[in-house]
Amino acid sequence: MSGRKKFIQQLGLMAGAFSVNSIFNQLHAAEISSANSLVKNLSSEAIASNEDYWSIIQQSYTVSPNIINLNNGGVSPSPRVVQEAVERYNKLTNEGPSYFMWRILDQGREPLRESLANLAGCEKEEIAINRNATEALNTIIFGLDLKAGDEVIGAMLDYPNMMSAWKQRALREGIVYKQLSFSFPIENDEEIVAAYEKAITPKTKIIHVTHIVNWVGQIMPVRKISDMAHKYGIEVICDGAHSFGLLDFKIPDLHCDYFGTSLHKFLSAPIGSGMLYIKKEKIEKIWPLVCNPNPKSSDIRKFETLGTRSFPIEQGIGEAINFHNAIGSKRKEDRVRYLKNYWVEKVKGIPRVKIHTSLKAEYSCAICGISIDGVNPRDLDSKLFNEYKIHTVPIVYDTANCVRVTPHVYTRLSELDKFVKAVTEIAAAK
Ligand SMILES: Cc1ncc(COP(=O)(O)O)c(C=O)c1O
Repeated sequence: MSGRKKFIQQLGLMAGAFSVNSIFNQLHAAEISSANSLVKNLSSEAIASNEDYWSIIQQSYTVSPNIINLNNGGVSPSPRVVQEAVERYNKLTNEGPSYFMWRILDQGREPLRESLANLAGCEKEEIAINRNATEALNTIIFGLDLKAGDEVIGAMLDYPNMMSAWKQRALREGIVYKQLSFSFPIENDEEIVAAYEKAITPKTKIIHVTHIVNWVGQIMPVRKISDMAHKYGIEVICDGAHSFGLLDFKIPDLHCDYFGTSLHKFLSAPIGSGMLYIKKEKIEKIWPLVCNPNPKSSDIRKFETLGTRSFPIEQGIGEAINFHNAIGSKRKEDRVRYLKNYWVEKVKGIPRVKIHTSLKAEYSCAICGISIDGVNPRDLDSKLFNEYKIHTVPIVYDTANCVRVTPHVYTRLSELDKFVKAVTEIAAAK
């Protein structure tokens, strides 16, 4: 093929990537639409247990058949369509990085911002694309003008990277960082809201809340906390690392001022992709974490001067959104909760087994903690892997003391049956 012809073909390829004629449409649309027609008369709750439908979704992933990965809370795999997009963009990039990245792939950023904003239910001017929740939330934490003595209320069970950021501000600038201690599960929104409200003083400026607590999966009443906080003129930062792409909600529903998430968890976007949301009128006052010539600009793009980074990973997010939308947020949430309930219902009555997460839909979805009396969570995690090749994560911190189990849309019931068998045998052993 002549260079010119190849070049024109590549341009066509790129145009396709940013349009409805994406890799997803080329490879998966037919499969998924036939799956969708299979269940078109069913409610989302009924679809949650329709194994014919979910087997098509399972086949869209390339996960190892040799280990059972129940730590999707840590990071999730991407479906094949997303992996292929990243590989394709990467190959293209390496044909002439500065040209293809900065002149061709770069054209995809604004359409991508729009797709993310549609998914998030906000304006595209409120979305910045970055590399993970840590970067998104650190942008807010370090970008806020706070002075010595100003107070921030968070929780012991927030995510360590955000706690470290607040602690660094406390150390360096003398802000006061207070952390609430919760013993989850708590099935009472008012109790949680009251705990934050009780900690408020005239110096409180910020409440930092984790939408789904990573340690034990508690869903926090972010909207109620935000409404309460706003009555005192306090702003709310929401860590949505585990909720975006899993729960069926729009960011503005939460009434928070700032929201950061990783896209490589439940959205199944390429690993190393994240998103920041800032309410339009608040953008101007937040300083960028990484330099920008106009730090006081009200343009959300001032948070994207990250230097050279992976354009293939960023552009791969678009295919993850296509894949997600083909399933639908409500269906995904219902299925993942169904999977959690599937295994929990089978083990919760077993002697010595303790469940550390609420089973009520409003308080939990994918993540659930489990322990077995007399077995240290680290030993339980090791046994699950060494003896059954089931990958989980031990959680031993503050009030959390369990093994965290997180299925995803590609998890098979047969895998959960193996997990149930493993728990049954471990709990029965002396
Ligand atoms: C609640 C919560 N926030 C933030 C993060 C950070 O995510 P990342 O490592 O993608 O920045 C995590 C990671 O697991 C998390 O659980």
